[in-house]
Amino acid sequence: MSRQILGVAATFLTSVLLSSTGLAQSTPVEPSFEFFMNEVQPIFLAKRGDNVRCIQCHTRSSGFRLQPLDDHAHFWTEEQSRMNYASARAFTVPGADPLKSRFLTHPLEASAGGDPFHGGGKHFASRSDPEWRIMADWVAGLAERRPASGTVVRIIQTNAAGDNSSIIDPVSNTVVATIDDVEIPHGVTSAPDGSAIYLSNETMHSLDVIDSRTLRVKRRIGLSGRPNNVSITPDGSKVYVAIMEMPGAIDIIDTASLTNIKTVPVDGAIHNVYVTPDGRYAVGGSIQRSMINVIDTRTDEVAWKLEMSSGIRPMTFDTNADGSTKNIYVQLSDFHGFAVVDFATRKEIARIEHPAVEGEVAHLDGLQAAPAHGLGVSPDGKTLWSTSKVYSHAYVHSLPDLKEIGRVFVGQHPEWVTFTPDGKTVYIGAAGDNAAYAVDAASLTVIAKIHTGQTPKRNGTVLMQVD
Ligand code: HEC
Repeated sequence: MSRQILGVAATFLTSVLLSSTGLAQSTPVEPSFEFFMNEVQPIFLAKRGDNVRCIQCHTRSSGFRLQPLDDHAHFWTEEQSRMNYASARAFTVPGADPLKSRFLTHPLEASAGGDPFHGGGKHFASRSDPEWRIMADWVAGLAERRPASGTVVRIIQTNAAGDNSSIIDPVSNTVVATIDDVEIPHGVTSAPDGSAIYLSNETMHSLDVIDSRTLRVKRRIGLSGRPNNVSITPDGSKVYVAIMEMPGAIDIIDTASLTNIKTVPVDGAIHNVYVTPDGRYAVGGSIQRSMINVIDTRTDEVAWKLEMSSGIRPMTFDTNADGSTKNIYVQLSDFHGFAVVDFATRKEIARIEHPAVEGEVAHLDGLQAAPAHGLGVSPDGKTLWSTSKVYSHAYVHSLPDLKEIGRVFVGQHPEWVTFTPDGKTVYIGAAGDNAAYAVDAASLTVIAKIHTGQTPKRNGTVLMQVD
């Protein structure tokens, strides 16, 4: 296995050398600074398994030395990165044989070709470990990450009282991996090309960029306050982050430079933010101010706002034939149902209250003033799903006529709804059951109850690149 991978590396390197530099194959390439800065350095900050992070020990080392991070910084400056580069470079022998570099053999298990002992423990069990391969590719002279072998669709279930998020394979309906090291993950979304997953981190007040192929935190981007939900533009260029602090803001992250480019002041602390399906607006709802704030994504200024009768909870949208937004469906504080806002006239046009489910015990404890929380329009635009924490059910309505067409039990404290891209399966995070329910959308039957982490609330359907 590892020999085969090294073979691929050697072939790739040869073609790089021959095609772009014209150098003879035997001349080693000087390892790239950019590749080191952006791809290798995150490995030194990442938490993996039982290991201590490299940075915890190596800022004081006399050998391989990392610069300490500045106060409140989540990443090194370019100047600091150049110093880190020089130190790592001193323990590398550029070229295709990774086992000549102490930088690579020291944290690698001896059974995988590593050297016998590292005071910092063995971090990588095999040479096919995705992080170790990034380090080896850097030493080998690659200028950028090798192409992924493909992409897969996954459901990410964040665990609101956990330090991890569960990755569900919608074919096997099992948790196939977890993303660790993000304590109190709130919202989740992914890059359209599947290269990254974005999680808002309530403990560190950051938007965390997860490398889809290593599942490690690649960057944490500082926010203006404690975040709640997140949403990405269809082209993947910007992530909007709801800041749940008064007087209210939405932060905008530029995904190319991985920087927080703007804090847009809005009316009220923001719980959920959504980029409309056409990408033209970012809509943020405030519980405290009962306000829907609509930001124009071309100017990144508030275009209009609408005050509702009570706090703004989850929202979702349907579209007109040209893709523009038709209605906002919105759940409200202390209301067991949802309201409908016409996007063009900016007015509430309907309100649907969910009836009691006969024979179902009403849960009134721990509702946090949100009896109905969890709302989604199916990918074909024909149904609207709304979940009730009181009656542990999802209520399904037809669109556009808003007639209830069925209900399904989806566990205690259902909180959020996401669909597979084909719309056949609906995943609902049931916070009170520590499980996600997979529901067959056609028959309205539960096909799997998938055990997750603690208090699973928000979830999302994402594309993920795989090695
Ligand atoms: C728990 C503390 C600790 C952690 C975590 C740790 N190291 Fe170390 N590392 C050491 C100590 C102590 C030494 C010196 C003793 C030795 O050579 O093993 C060392 C030595 C090294 C050396 C050799 C430097 C020299 O002077 O020869 C390299 C390279 C290295 N570590 C890389 C790493 C990398 C990469 C990571 C993270 C993947 C890491 N270390 C994590 C403690 C740590």
